[in-house]
Amino acid sequence: MGKSYPSVSEDYKKALDKCKRKLRAFIAEKNCAPLMLRLAWHSAGTFDVKTKTGGPFGTMRHKAEQSHAANNGLDKAVVWLEPIKEQFPILSYGDFYQLAGVVAVEITGGPDVPFHPGRKDKDEPPLEGRLPDATKGADHLRNVFGATMGLGDKEIVALSGAHTLGRCHKERSGFEGPWTANPLVFDNSYFNF
Ligand code: HEM
Repeated sequence: MGKSYPSVSEDYKKALDKCKRKLRAFIAEKNCAPLMLRLAWHSAGTFDVKTKTGGPFGTMRHKAEQSHAANNGLDKAVVWLEPIKEQFPILSYGDFYQLAGVVAVEITGGPDVPFHPGRKDKDEPPLEGRLPDATKGADHLRNVFGATMGLGDKEIVALSGAHTLGRCHKERSGFEGPWTANPLVFDNSYFNF
């Protein structure tokens, strides 16, 4: 059986198209695709498959979630995006932040990521500590991606390829520097290096 997705109105679809164009222009101008992709991922990556809590339901708009240690620096992304979000009150924050991630991959030359709208925003941020910790090893990754998010090794490897974009910032994660030679181009170089 195929997956079923929520349906949204024609007005909602029109707003998504218009918003996507604005996001393209803004992210390209600011060269902030990596930060936007990290925002989308950190919004989604808190999902707990057993309790169906966490996930990309707009809770990153709250200071409480921005202040989780793993989210250092994402407050900037939220502030930057707010003037665009204000132009599209019909859209949920959940859809909007994920759309920013999709656009980030698109404008840096990555694959077309299928986008399914219809997320309803939640008010309560997830508990802190659900995102992977870069100082820990494979067992930890399997635990976070597998037991919590319901994903397997293939997905861990494929998703980690997102580090073809962007870099570490000492003041955010304690690590420093990019993974690849051109951190604004989405290609396979994370895996090659
Ligand atoms: C496998 C587990 C993962 C770990 C341990 C991890 C860890 C990190 C760390 C430590 C940083 C540096 C943050 C900073 O200092 O600014 C980072 C950045 C980043 N991560 Fe991950 N990450 C993981 C998975 C992912 C996934 C699944 C995605 C997206 C699908 C992703 C997208 C990014 C992006 C785009 C950046 C660059 C942000 C920037 O340049 O501002 N990461 N990640």
